[in-house]
Amino acid sequence: MKITSICCIGAGYVGGPTMAIIAQKCPNIKVTVVDLNVERIAAWNDEDVNNIPIYEPGLSDLVAEARGRNLFFSTEVEKAIDEAQMIFISVNTPTKTYGLGKGMAADLKYIELCARQIAAVAKENKIVVEKSTLPVRTAEAVKNILDNTGNGVQFQILSNPEFLAEGTAVQDLLHPDRVLIGGDATNGQEAIDALVEVYANWVPKEKILTTNLWSSELSKLTANAFLAQRVSSINAMSELCEKTGADINELSKAIGMDSRIGPKFLKASVGFGGSCFQKDILNLVYIAKTYGLNKVADYWEQVVIMNDHQKRRFSNNIVQTLYNTVSGKKIAFLGWAFKKDTNDTRESAAINVSDFLLNEQANIAVFDPRVKEKQIINDLIYLKSRSIEDIKKGITVYNDPYEVCKDAHAIAILTEWDEFKEYDWQKIYNNMQKPAFVFDGRNILDAKKMTEIGFIFNAIGGANE
Ligand code: NAD
Ligand code: UDX
Repeated sequence: MKITSICCIGAGYVGGPTMAIIAQKCPNIKVTVVDLNVERIAAWNDEDVNNIPIYEPGLSDLVAEARGRNLFFSTEVEKAIDEAQMIFISVNTPTKTYGLGKGMAADLKYIELCARQIAAVAKENKIVVEKSTLPVRTAEAVKNILDNTGNGVQFQILSNPEFLAEGTAVQDLLHPDRVLIGGDATNGQEAIDALVEVYANWVPKEKILTTNLWSSELSKLTANAFLAQRVSSINAMSELCEKTGADINELSKAIGMDSRIGPKFLKASVGFGGSCFQKDILNLVYIAKTYGLNKVADYWEQVVIMNDHQKRRFSNNIVQTLYNTVSGKKIAFLGWAFKKDTNDTRESAAINVSDFLLNEQANIAVFDPRVKEKQIINDLIYLKSRSIEDIKKGITVYNDPYEVCKDAHAIAILTEWDEFKEYDWQKIYNNMQKPAFVFDGRNILDAKKMTEIGFIFNAIGGANE
């Protein structure tokens, strides 16, 4: 079967970029991305392509090229489902905040709604592709819903998890390490082949891996668990470095040169953030527990426990170093996004660190090159730990890096934006309260230079000290 029309439900960080690449690489396929969020769709359709809702290097150019040609953004979900041969489900699957599995399991209500809507609308056979990250065996539930509530048409379910990382989404999609497609080889080979052919327009065939459905679903959770585990492992060692005089950067390099370990994902930090790692590990822990695999669950839960510890440790260090009080002191945050080159703030370490410091009555001043004030305030409202009035009293958002640091007692670096390295640190120092402290939660600044200027400089894991 040759695919000529695709619909993607969910115009978020995955749906938007993924479909932009498919549209660019497959000019003969009409790609429609739909979402219930009217504001988000309007932003994707904004005449000024710089106003699309997601910041990713290279993405606005791609959208500018394909939008209106074979890439469309719409709120007409049913129409798009009806017209498509292949439907990607790319909706959010956050951690449940209520009921059974609260705080652990993935909330699948948006997935189920999509399945029911597809079933209600479809009048012809469709291929349904799980793009969202899902618990293993979700395809079974999706198939049950489709087969039992549909109009007697045939549905094939595929699992095609997405491995892109934010900030590098376009490059990751253009040159993926692999594309994973899970399907039912007995009854669904035609569907598997159809999706392979879509990707084969730009991905070498040997990088397109086909597996059974459950392996594909579980591989996604496993990949994120392994990646997050590396960050927690190196962060655990950063605490030991600080006690022993070892340098975490030297340690990372030394172990990373072992080809069995590899050099990537060994950067010590204030703690990992992002919408995926914590959510997916907690989901894995929950799944293991539901099968009675408590030791497996405990093992993976430690990755999240260690990450919480790292964020708390970073905050405590600020308070202790500032003579055990930050009450009434201006603490400047450079960065709010969970990593550089994205405007995404979900689960960013900055949120937790600011929460701890607000409890200590600090005055937090924030500058992030891509995150807007509204988002920062919303992130703190979402925590539900204080009133909006108290949040607005405690947090001030700046548009200028020199202004945010002016008269501050300390600067905390929460995101590794490249531009932070290029600032005039002498000028920043001159305008700060003395002694002037810097807490580099990303190990991006040169400790020696900063100390020479006069800063009292703190890096993670004693880096470069
Ligand atoms: P997102 O929140 O940015 O986007 C999801 C979108 O789906 C939202 O705009 C929402 O309005 C829309 N939506 C929800 N229910 C809908 C419905 N019934 N009909 C139409 N639209 C609906 O989420 P995201 O970051 O793009 O993540 C989507 C999935 O991909 C998640 O399962 C996530 O775990 C996974 N994933 C995310 C990343 C990442 O880097 N963000 C990477 C790999 C996988
Ligand atoms: C992650 C996975 O990498 C990606 O494959 C998956 O599809 C979605 O989840 P993402 O969360 O976008 O991607 O970014 P990633 O680069 O993995 O970083 C996650 C967090 O870990 C960030 O806060 C980052 O700063 C932190 N991190 C990463 C470190 O602290 N040290 C590292 O060495 C690497």
